[in-house]
Amino acid sequence: MCGIVGYIGYEQATPLLLQGLEKLEYRGYDSAGVAVYDGSRLEVVKAKGRLQVLSDLLDGGKKLTGTVGIGHTRWATHGRPSDINSHPQVSDSGKFAVVHNGIIENYMQLKEHLIRRGVKFVSETDTEVVAQLFEYYYKGDMVETLIKVISKVEGSYALGVISQEHPDQLLAVRKDSPLIVGLGKGENYIASDIPAILSKTRDIYRLEDKEIAVLTTGGVTVYNTDYEIVQKTPFHVDWDISAAEKGGYEHFMAKEIMEQPKAVRDTISPRIRNGEIVLDDIKLTRQQIQDISKIFIVACGSAYHVGVVAKYVLEKLTRKPVEVDLASEFRYRSPILDDNTLVVVISQSGETADTLAALREAKKLGARVLSIVNVVGSSIASDSDDVLYTWAGPEIAVATTKAYSTQLCVVYLIALYMARQLGTLSDEAYANYVDELQQLPDKIEQVLQNKAGIQYFASQYFNCHDIFFIGRNYDYAMSLEGSLKLKEISYIHSEAYAAGELKHGPISLIEEGTLVVALATQDQLFDKMVSNIKEVKARGAVVLGVTTEKHKEIEQVADYEFYIPNASDIMLPSLAVVPLQLFSYYIASMKGCDIDKPRNLAKSVTVE
Ligand code: G6P
Repeated sequence: MCGIVGYIGYEQATPLLLQGLEKLEYRGYDSAGVAVYDGSRLEVVKAKGRLQVLSDLLDGGKKLTGTVGIGHTRWATHGRPSDINSHPQVSDSGKFAVVHNGIIENYMQLKEHLIRRGVKFVSETDTEVVAQLFEYYYKGDMVETLIKVISKVEGSYALGVISQEHPDQLLAVRKDSPLIVGLGKGENYIASDIPAILSKTRDIYRLEDKEIAVLTTGGVTVYNTDYEIVQKTPFHVDWDISAAEKGGYEHFMAKEIMEQPKAVRDTISPRIRNGEIVLDDIKLTRQQIQDISKIFIVACGSAYHVGVVAKYVLEKLTRKPVEVDLASEFRYRSPILDDNTLVVVISQSGETADTLAALREAKKLGARVLSIVNVVGSSIASDSDDVLYTWAGPEIAVATTKAYSTQLCVVYLIALYMARQLGTLSDEAYANYVDELQQLPDKIEQVLQNKAGIQYFASQYFNCHDIFFIGRNYDYAMSLEGSLKLKEISYIHSEAYAAGELKHGPISLIEEGTLVVALATQDQLFDKMVSNIKEVKARGAVVLGVTTEKHKEIEQVADYEFYIPNASDIMLPSLAVVPLQLFSYYIASMKGCDIDKPRNLAKSVTVE
């Protein structure tokens, strides 16, 4: 979603802002803009469309001089994408400029209040209210004004503010939306995400809710809302910028698909010692595990699909009841939780607004929260009782691949760890699963080596209009993910159905030539899937069957086959998802879609 970059220092700000915004393009946006103090006043340039449009207007940054500025990529919420609605938004006099991620929920009341006092608004955005309020309350002190402004606004925000009254200061504050401060020598930065400033500094402060950072060329001071100084410890980023670059691949998504064996290995290996799963990172005791009466899994998007697999895995191995819920539903449905409930929250970014709110709701109701998160130090990680990080590295493509795969691995680790504590698995079964887990990276590698088969299949069907994904149990969970991936990046309509449910409705949509991807990886359900494949074939469907190497008989019913290596039932999703990712990728590539930045979508969804 929206991206923020800000700079104060001795270099020309505009080119730095544009470079930083470019690194945030992956988050999804529809317009962009910058505001820079040019020595006498604030200059603002904004444009609807890709960052390139803005860059061309600014001649790559040369046209706007000045050493303090803020920049923004906007993903429209209040008001359509347009030049005027783009950020920075400025106050009536043009003296204060603001960039904002999040939503100011009470902006209508605030706007009416200001209009009654003669303030003129030009945009449809909620953000303009912040700029106008700033000017309305300003009495000479920037921090005091910002404290006053945030006492008035409700909702979520990450804000960057500059003013021609105080061009020696860049202010930043956040609530429920990520914002970091980058520390340099004689220059300092703000950004909504690390890649934006990683080429400039590796030392950052992560701002907590309502902490106000004042950046000058001389340093950074952080205050609380009582205007007292807060001591912050910098966090050193140890991953390399190359991890957030394409490294020769045409798209980040392709790179991230191919990185999966490594990401999975990095996530699993440190947590298996002498055949035992060791989760040093969590404090959950054996007693607490035994006392768990129910597990809820809460997430959004693909992370929710990991949750669907997790339900099957956890119930099978731990014999504890598990419910899986979309965070946006969970948070508003008064779930029944108590202090013996474990809520497992799954999130790549650790910032998804609904997931974060669901986590807070769960904690309020007394549950213990264990999160599976990729971004270290993110809000979800900070607010959880326990965190297990996925070591996937930065994921840039909007459509998740390696984060999804590593989340699945952490689910296996948790389930096996809990089963061991509960005594619900024999020693032999446990040892076999641990062994299988360690083989996963190599097996994923084998699947990737067969990618040409999927590429060929995609080349035959990239023009189709509807695709159905069907499967049972784990394979149903995979169907959900395969269908979402395809929709996200190729814009082809698709449906995921539990194969047994087909005859209750969707089979009416199957006609001559309809493409069906049938997942049949589970031994005990293979025959049932063969029947479902026959049902759709009888109505004219073309079928790609995805199954394991031992089920060559799929060739008797399907039109095309893709084999994944044999593995235990719970771990087959880690292998089955790979051809589905490749299929979406190749289809989108053949259709010429903007794969890494699909229309209307955002990587980190920081609004409800
Ligand atoms: C967005 C992304 C998805 C992701 C979902 C949840 O929709 O495009 O790839 O699965 O958000 O994000 P999270 O960061 O919480 O895993």
